[in-house]
Amino acid sequence: MCYKAAMLFDFDTPVERTGTGATRWERYAGRDVVPLWVADTDFRAPPAVLAAFARRIEHGVFGYTSQPRELHEEIVARMQRLYRWRIEPDWIVFLPGVVPGLHLAARHLVPADGHVLVPTPIYQHFKRAVELAPRAHDDVPLALQGGRWVFDEARLAAAVRPNTRLLYLCNPQNPGGTIFTRTELERLAALAERHELVICSDEIHADLLLDEGKPHVPIASLSPDVSRRTVTLASPNKTYNFPGTGCAWAIVEDAALRRAFSLDHHATVHDPALFGYVAALAAYREGDAWLAAQLEYLRGNRDMVERKVAAMQGLAMAHVEATYLAWIDARGLAVPDAHAHFLAQGVALSPGAQFGAPGYVRLNFGTQRARLEEALARIASAVSSTRAR
Ligand SMILES: Cc1ncc(COP(=O)(O)O)c(C=O)c1O
Repeated sequence: MCYKAAMLFDFDTPVERTGTGATRWERYAGRDVVPLWVADTDFRAPPAVLAAFARRIEHGVFGYTSQPRELHEEIVARMQRLYRWRIEPDWIVFLPGVVPGLHLAARHLVPADGHVLVPTPIYQHFKRAVELAPRAHDDVPLALQGGRWVFDEARLAAAVRPNTRLLYLCNPQNPGGTIFTRTELERLAALAERHELVICSDEIHADLLLDEGKPHVPIASLSPDVSRRTVTLASPNKTYNFPGTGCAWAIVEDAALRRAFSLDHHATVHDPALFGYVAALAAYREGDAWLAAQLEYLRGNRDMVERKVAAMQGLAMAHVEATYLAWIDARGLAVPDAHAHFLAQGVALSPGAQFGAPGYVRLNFGTQRARLEEALARIASAVSSTRAR
């Protein structure tokens, strides 16, 4: 059945992105480099989204736009349908991106003398948010257990200080690819409750679930108490590949927390732009079949990456449960800079240092399979060149 789903949509035909301002592609334009770094995909957005854009463009007037009530309703219904999580429309705070939400959490939910826990490795903007705020913080390394990147509870508990106010969570985890289980989240939430911490949970990858039977659990859906202490950040941008349109939101039940979080609203932080709303609505209303097909395609890519990396001596990676990102341990190659080493062979990956783990690289497999295959062949020759030295 899944094979058929993938056939209904075309993920294989390459789309020329050079010359469109694509961040991932422009940096290496004109060079023989396969760019697999920044986390967007090379797939066209769902046909329903393209059609909604076309209809809106045909209208021709693009004035100031209010937050669409229908999108509030769509989000409320989706949380209920997917997670049996009952939220109210008023809990939703629209944002131009998830990243501004990470910054708002650091600046407004942590006093100037407060402290933040950052489980690493982690998407770099969590760290940037605390550094720029600036707020004191501790990196708390995840542990690789049973082939999954999970929380090290003892280290987390030991890192809590009397002034710790905020715990960052990235679920599913970027770059580790973990879908945290209900039990893991319950234990994390218990720690937050014990120490009276606010949780800021970035769930932007929640729909990119590659392992069937492993559901995403929004941490705020665990209990009313967890919900009251949590800011959940979400967006369809990554799932349906329209991050350039900028539409995201926070879900915050507690009114005081929501007020504090929203302090900058309409001052320095804008609402999403018109086309962000158009894309989000169309994707949520009509994008399910496309998403199922994309997940099937990504599973194929993930399996290929895991198979080929396993055969390369000096590289190791955990199984990717979610996201289209592979977190590869290249320390076994014993090269001074793994990112530079692969780039010299024509593949641009994200350097692990960006996520707090030098010696690792992150590979974005959200691309056409033939291109991925070429990149993996280049990686293989980069690996064998280290053995030839
Ligand atoms: C965990 C995580 N959060 C946020 C973002 C970016 O979100 P936005 O483009 O909505 O600011 C990314 C993009 O890679 C991400 O991986």
